[in-house]
Amino acid sequence: MRAKIDPLHPVRVTRKAVLGLFREAGPLMRAYLRVKFRICPILRMEAYIPDKGMIVDLGCGNGLFAAILKLGSPAREIVGIDLDARKIAEARKSLGNIPHLDFRLGDVAAVTYPPADVYTIIDVLYLIPFAAQERILRMCAAALPPEGTLVLKDMDKKPRRKYAWNAIQETLAVKIIGFTLGSRFYFRSRADYAALLESLGFAVDIVPLHKGYWYPHILFIARKK
Ligand SMILES: C[S@@+](CC[C@H](N)C(=O)[O-])C[C@H]1O[C@@H](n2cnc3c(N)ncnc32)[C@H](O)[C@@H]1O
Repeated sequence: MRAKIDPLHPVRVTRKAVLGLFREAGPLMRAYLRVKFRICPILRMEAYIPDKGMIVDLGCGNGLFAAILKLGSPAREIVGIDLDARKIAEARKSLGNIPHLDFRLGDVAAVTYPPADVYTIIDVLYLIPFAAQERILRMCAAALPPEGTLVLKDMDKKPRRKYAWNAIQETLAVKIIGFTLGSRFYFRSRADYAALLESLGFAVDIVPLHKGYWYPHILFIARKK
């Protein structure tokens, strides 16, 4: 399957450039990056993020999205936060020398949120219980200025066959292989997320990104009113 090209949000970062930044990473990590490029439109998402300003990436993992953001526009200042010490160490090892790119160990349900122009949350909230999801989104809203942007990427509950496929894959990754921290999943429908974000004072654009992929990828671009 091939993803359609969106002329308003062209892909600006190549796989090769990203792999170049992670050249010191081990073979497992590089294999993970190659798989992620195939199954997730993570390169396409970059163009939806403002080109400059302070960005906080909650649940940044091994720093992949932060790396893509920096390659897309070096004027971005980025702080990534993740609960998994191994992933933060991987991010620092590969990306630690890049100016204005910082990785911190922390639980995004508990840390203090720094003021920022943009918050991004990429494939993280479905691992976090519903009440804590709401708290996290509320803290993003409080830390953003008016016109600030929250970009939330998650998995939609439709199309149903993609949702079912994703549940099987995530069960493998989380419960059996132990690849990501977490023990169960907390998916919301797109209507549920849109209503929640609007109730927190955001105007929301929804960008379905599942075409050409096996997974029900969905992006919410939420601008603080
Ligand atoms: C599926 S990975 C996505 C990583 C990254 N955002 C990406 O797209 O490449 C989910 C990440 O969320 C992190 N995570 C889960 N719960 C968290 C929490 N409460 N605080 C911080 N990070 C968390 C996990 O450690 C993991 O790195």
